[in-house]
Amino acid sequence: MIDLKDKVALVTGASRGIGRATAIRFAEAGAHVVVNYVTSRTAAEQTAEEVAARGRDVAIVKADVSEQDDIESMMEFVDQTFGRLDILVSNAATGGFRPLLATTARNFEAAMNTNVRALLFLTQAAVPLMERSEGRKKIIGISSHGSHMALPMYGVIGGSKAALESIARHLALELGDRDFNVNIVQAGLVETDSTRRLPGSDQMFAARRTKQMVGERDLEPTDVADAVLFLSSSLSDLVQGQTLIVDGGAAVHV
Ligand SMILES: NC(=O)c1ccc[n+]([C@@H]2O[C@H](COP(=O)([O-])OP(=O)(O)OC[C@H]3O[C@@H](n4cnc5c(N)ncnc54)[C@H](OP(=O)(O)O)[C@@H]3O)[C@@H](O)[C@H]2O)c1
Repeated sequence: MIDLKDKVALVTGASRGIGRATAIRFAEAGAHVVVNYVTSRTAAEQTAEEVAARGRDVAIVKADVSEQDDIESMMEFVDQTFGRLDILVSNAATGGFRPLLATTARNFEAAMNTNVRALLFLTQAAVPLMERSEGRKKIIGISSHGSHMALPMYGVIGGSKAALESIARHLALELGDRDFNVNIVQAGLVETDSTRRLPGSDQMFAARRTKQMVGERDLEPTDVADAVLFLSSSLSDLVQGQTLIVDGGAAVHV
């Protein structure tokens, strides 16, 4: 039912975790994929192999999404390689896990520039390229429960995710009448490289099951990728400026 045949999708932070799962889902749905990474070249190549194994075109591009120059160079690369872009997924995020009271200006800027400002500059750089495509163009960001809940050691990342959701709504306002949909997927706790580094992660993974209402099933990167796939497809053309929560029900469970 979801057919992204011959669409071109750029996924930031596609070397690992949710970004990689999203790149693979796109390939399964027929899209060609641009795999972005910043440090993990080998992991990005593994993602690219998975995409190519599904018969799609794939390109790998190193770019630090916290740097506007890198973002602009990446879009030039996409233009030269594919000549168009239909789907942009701003997935990459960073930010050490630390108390707000121990957060420096440098920590704050790193998290905000990667997690929030990237969506803004990615969108600015992508719009002229995306406007060459027919039909509705899709921009999706990835948020977390930290946007509306207080989690230990997560203050700066949580604050960045709240800002991300607001920026997405306002981008929808500016771009919605120009054939763009801008939405967010807000994921619950998923076991990936970054969450395995969270202080007390074992207890958090165990506690997750008591909050979710989906039996013994754990939330996987592919569950988040499936929501991104929906928001990238024509099935969601009338979903605009929204945050779609994918967490097995944890956010509504007292
Ligand atoms: N895991 C969860 O429980 C969870 C829950 C809610 C929301 N999320 C969100 O989902 C997204 C993906 O998280 P994840 O857990 O899948 O992360 P992950 O496995 O730690 O992977 C992070 C990815 O982001 C890339 N990245 C980091 N900084 C970058 C930068 N400055 N420029 C370009 N790429 C950069 C990394 O590239 P390299 O490999 O090259 O370093 C890597 O591909 C994030 O937005 C995160 O906040 C995750």
